[in-house]
Amino acid sequence: MFPPAPPVGTTMLPARPSADARALLALRRSASKHHLTEPGPSPDALDELLRVAARVPDHRKLSPWRFITFEGEARTAFGKHLARIHDANTPGAESRDILEAAGLPMRAPVVVAVISSPDRTHKTPVWEQELSAGAVCQNLLLAANAAGWGGVWLSEWMAFNPEVARLLGLTDDERIAGFIYLGTATMGCPERPRPDMSEKITRWAPPT
Ligand SMILES: Cc1cc2nc3c(=O)[nH]c(=O)nc-3n(C[C@H](O)[C@H](O)[C@H](O)COP(=O)(O)O)c2cc1C
Repeated sequence: MFPPAPPVGTTMLPARPSADARALLALRRSASKHHLTEPGPSPDALDELLRVAARVPDHRKLSPWRFITFEGEARTAFGKHLARIHDANTPGAESRDILEAAGLPMRAPVVVAVISSPDRTHKTPVWEQELSAGAVCQNLLLAANAAGWGGVWLSEWMAFNPEVARLLGLTDDERIAGFIYLGTATMGCPERPRPDMSEKITRWAPPT
């Protein structure tokens, strides 16, 4: 589906003009978390998506990120833990909310936690390492779209909960960059408002 990585040292094209790639980028839109269903990428297809997603800019080649996947029954088990954690941390939690927590990983056939895994002792700033993890999340969405899958990047409370971090085996230095939900999108999302780019772009000139 995706070309294999060429041998190390192969001279690579610095640009790859493609009308399809331009459309993919210019028209990119997340899927709705309410409209992702089976089928999702198979384990092999997912491995390929993750390989492609990992081709991000990475200062000093630290690969400061990793993936935890939730596929099949693992989502049910994760959901049970989320329900337990939500219940334990929410005084007076209603059973409806606990049920909802259990269902969070079930909203797509495949969920990928992208873990930011910076080396704090390294001279590459942690900020740069974390940005690389963000690039992985976006690259995963784009790779998934290019392969025909819908995807959405969500954090929600799970990404910031210390018990979830412990359950997933994160070290003290690691953080969840996002949960990427992947599957078959049953409908598209409407175009959303976009920023006025003239307010976002400054063409710098030296002070006079
Ligand atoms: C780090 C990060 C975390 C996000 N977490 C959530 C979230 O928890 N819930 C949510 O509805 N959208 C979340 N979003 C936004 C969606 O991923 C998505 O970008 C948004 O719905 C707009 O759609 P678009 O990507 O098609 O522009 C998050 C985005 C980022 C970058």
